[in-house]
Formats: sequence, structure tokens, C-alpha cells
Amino acid sequence: MQFLPVAIITGATRGIGKEITKKLSSNGISCISVGASLHSISRIKQNDHLSFIKENQHHGALAIDLSQWPNSLDSSNIDTVDFSLDGNTMVSKQEHGDSVFSLIDIWNKQLKEKGLSHDVVYYTSLLINCAGITQENISIKESNEKITKIMNVNFLSAVTLCNKTIIRIIKEKRQIKNQLVGHDESISRMKTKIINISSALETSKYIIPGTSIYSASKSALSCYSKTLNEEIQKTGIKVTSLPINLIEGTDMIKDLSNSSGFENLEKYNLPTDTKENVANKVFQLYLK
Ligand SMILES: NC(=O)c1ccc[n+]([C@@H]2O[C@H](COP(=O)([O-])OP(=O)(O)OC[C@H]3O[C@@H](n4cnc5c(N)ncnc54)[C@H](OP(=O)(O)O)[C@@H]3O)[C@@H](O)[C@H]2O)c1
Repeated sequence: MQFLPVAIITGATRGIGKEITKKLSSNGISCISVGASLHSISRIKQNDHLSFIKENQHHGALAIDLSQWPNSLDSSNIDTVDFSLDGNTMVSKQEHGDSVFSLIDIWNKQLKEKGLSHDVVYYTSLLINCAGITQENISIKESNEKITKIMNVNFLSAVTLCNKTIIRIIKEKRQIKNQLVGHDESISRMKTKIINISSALETSKYIIPGTSIYSASKSALSCYSKTLNEEIQKTGIKVTSLPINLIEGTDMIKDLSNSSGFENLEKYNLPTDTKENVANKVFQLYLK
């Protein structure tokens, strides 16, 4: 049995998430990219975000506005794009099952129709929670609506996606085990990971006015990831959070520079990094 890994990456339309998607797809992993709207996922392009380098490699995208947690993630009506190697894209609404994983079911169904389902299977291998937004004001000037959106995108959606992914992987492993009675040692070849993208601001090492809610959302994500990893130890799924340094040139940093606490960003001496380096670190964490 050949196991074909599928990664789900939020925040994949731009910035760091786009770079991670490029890295994964150019290494043969099928990618499901998540962006906030149909408009933003329609900008995902082959030979830019996505490469097809392996037989049976697929890619897709989902439009989910994570700021509308929890409803947007419970919806069984998510705009979905299925990219094919010939450059054609198919846009549809998935109305059955859990829409976050429906493309994986569709791709497995296609294998079955080709008579290949005993030899090859797509499985949920990796979730990367990379979508993030930052604040524009110091806390007392920030609206409740914006505070809710920051927590919904940066923390609560990540929690829900972790939960959904863990439950999904447990079910997939059980199904494959039933299919492979007597050969289930090969299940150990299935790599299953969750990587949550945090920030150097998650610790109290850097205290920067204008990032109070943002840094709290990243601290929450980091603590959650550590404890979740212990909670699900028996499943074989590894959960890690990756705190990353300042990446100049990203839309997020342009937004922060306009926010009230960031007039003198230089004075905080924040360590910097590049998108390419972060994508390499994520890939190494996945392979570990
Ligand atoms: N940039 C840095 O220096 C830096 C430093 C430390 C940590 N980080 C973290 O790294 C991650 C990526 O940052 P970045 O600089 O690449 O950000 P970015 O360029 O601003 O991109 C943000 C990504 O998040 C998605 N997103 C935003 N709001 C969303 C929503 N409501 N629903 C669904 N998706 C939404 C965007 O999708 P759309 O295109 O659809 O809007 C986009 O793909 C974030 O978690 C950030 O906190 C960044």
C-alpha cells in the first residue's frame, strides 16, 4: 500500500503560509490551502504556490473565514477548489460530510473508480495552522469586534482545526488498519503531525506596546499545543508550535508598522528571519 500524504495549510494564500505550501508541494505532498474567501483562494496558482511533481499528487483550496469561528468551520457548505495538473480548476460547494476533509474523500473515491484503492490511499498527514492577524491599536483603543477576530483567527480556529484533524486521523488510521488486516505494520509509515505557527512575541521576552492581544493569542496557542501533544500521545500524532521571528516585507509587518505601538520597531531589537527559512524549518519538523 502506498500512502499519499495530504497537508492542510491555513494562511496559505500569502506570506509565510504561501512559502510553506510551496515547500511542501515541491516535495510531492498534496496540499489543501485555506484562505479567507473565494476571491483570495482564486489567486492560488500552479507554478507559484503549487507544484505537481509526483504521480497522483493533487491540490485543493478551501474558502473559510476563520474570523467567523465557530460557524465558518462547522459549515457543510464551504467553497472548494480542486486544482488539476492540466491547469483546469473546479470550483464547487461541498455539502456532504466534513467539508474540511471532503477533497481527500473525493480523491480517494477517484482512486476507487480507477480500481487503485487497494494499492494507494490519500491520508491526512499534516495540519499547519498559519493564518494570523494582528492588531492596529493598543488594547484600550481596540474594538471588541477586532479583539474577537484576533482570538478567532489566531487561536480558536486553530483549536477547532486541531480537534477535527485529530479525530479525522484516528478514523482514517482505523479504516486503513481494517483494510490491511495482517499488514498493519505499514501504518507506522503514516506520518501525522500538527504544526501551529506562533511568534517570538509569545513569551514575555519582548514586550511591545500595540501587540497585547496578538501576543496573548500566540501565548495561548503555544501553551495549548504543548498540552494537547501530551493529551493525544497515544494516537501517534505529534503537535508542535513554532515561534517565529520577524519576517520583514510580509503584509502583517506592513500592517503592524501602521499600528500605534510600532512607530519605532527598530528599538525593540527583534530577531528577524526569512519566509524561506521558516518554510525549511517547518518541513524539517514535519520530517522529524
Ligand atoms: N510576518 C511576521 O513577521 C510574523 C512573525 C511572527 C509570527 N508570524 C505569524 O505567521 C503567520 C503568517 O503570517 P504572515 O506574515 O504570512 O501573514 P500575512 O502575510 O498577513 O498573511 C495572513 C494569512 O492569514 C490568512 N487569514 C487572515 N485572516 C483570515 C481569516 N479571517 N480567515 C482565513 N484566513 C485568514 C490570510 O488569508 P487571505 O489572503 O485570504 O486574507 C493570509 O493567508 C501568522 O500566524 C503570524 O501571526 C508572522
